Amino acid sequence: MTTGPQVITCKAAVLRKVGEPLQVEEIQVDPPKSSEIRLKMLCASMCHTDILCCNGLPVPLFPRIPGHEGVGVIESVGENVKDLKEGDIVMPLYLGECGECLNCSSGRTNLCHKYPLAFTGLMPDGTSRMSVGGEIIYHHFSCSTWCEYLVIDSNYAVKVDPRVSLPHASFLCCGFTTGYGSAFKETTLDKGSSVAVIGLGAVGLGAVKGAQMQGATKIIGIDINDLKEEKAKAFGMTDFINPKSSDKSVSELIKEATGGLGVDVVFECTGVPALLNEAIEGSKVGLGTVVFIGAGLQTSGEIKYIPLLCGRAVKGSIFGGVRTRSDLPKIIEKCVNKEIDLDQLISHEVSLDEINKAFEYMKQPSSVKVVIKF
Ligand SMILES: NC(=O)c1ccc[n+]([C@@H]2O[C@H](COP(=O)([O-])OP(=O)(O)OC[C@H]3O[C@@H](n4cnc5c(N)ncnc54)[C@H](O)[C@@H]3O)[C@@H](O)[C@H]2O)c1
Ligand SMILES: [Zn+2]
Ligand SMILES: [Zn+2]
Repeated sequence: MTTGPQVITCKAAVLRKVGEPLQVEEIQVDPPKSSEIRLKMLCASMCHTDILCCNGLPVPLFPRIPGHEGVGVIESVGENVKDLKEGDIVMPLYLGECGECLNCSSGRTNLCHKYPLAFTGLMPDGTSRMSVGGEIIYHHFSCSTWCEYLVIDSNYAVKVDPRVSLPHASFLCCGFTTGYGSAFKETTLDKGSSVAVIGLGAVGLGAVKGAQMQGATKIIGIDINDLKEEKAKAFGMTDFINPKSSDKSVSELIKEATGGLGVDVVFECTGVPALLNEAIEGSKVGLGTVVFIGAGLQTSGEIKYIPLLCGRAVKGSIFGGVRTRSDLPKIIEKCVNKEIDLDQLISHEVSLDEINKAFEYMKQPSSVKVVIKF
């Protein structure tokens, strides 16, 4: 039964054109259809990928409501929603998990064929649930969390233990989970493994924590911002390198810190093209694995050494290989139990009305995560 059949008028951060500030506007949010749920958002946050979205990547669909990290309470459900109900706290996500398709049943990937990363800006049925005076507004991936209410297909939503802090749940929707999951799902780390993490934002800090929990004993964090050293140490980093304080390349610095051999695994978490080569060069010949996680606006640079990988493995990762419905609840539990403490990530808070300040805060050296309060 659909419990909330009315169109809701509410505030949302709308991006109308690349390069323009977001506008906080009143929009209309339709009721949820069949397998969909409508959420009243309680908290959201900003991921670096939102900056890419506002620059028109991966697809320039406007007007659009950005945001793919957040947590909300179900206000109403469509008639075919079975496992979620009004009042449940849930995370809206950009990947679904049907549990049955070739990829879901492979045991090897989180990339569901039935509920994939949506680049159309629309719901799975090809329509949007958001508009302003009849003008369609595009979703960001399957969500659009910078909005007081959102509609999402329930197959892209995960119920959250209500004891988890709301900002922590929000961070788990993308950034932190992506790095953390990569250490478990995209590579094999043994006790005593050595790791380098390039870029210590929420993603990189997640990779540091995941590597520590997997038993890595040398965890080298690399960032051009010295303020990241203290944060990363709190998550388990053992060595810090700021490449700006040396004339040597990142790979030379990694080798220097590992007796010349390089590390077992490099997680590239900046999206800076030139660092892709450095990540490969910084991993062990014959044994090393490189996980590419970062995505960026820069298109200059190229991967030089593909024919000369010399036995190294290179992998690209989305959401750290984490399966939304079967893996996320276990990570949430670790946050509830304080095995993982994400308070370290919170650097700034804004209201939805102040959303443009969030972009300014993201540029500050002290920034890790900007929380958006409703
Ligand atoms: N693959 C995925 O599923 C996925 C998911 C989330 C984010 N991302 C991408 O991962 C990257 C990191 O995201 P984030 O939210 O942690 O970003 P962030 O901006 O918070 O952190 C990036 C960090 O990289 C550092 N950095 C930038 N240039 C550097 C350089 N040349 N050398 C060393 N360090 C450098 C910055 O100082 C910063 O600490 C982004 O490119 C984002 O788009 C990918
Ligand atoms: Zn599937
Ligand atoms: Zn993200």
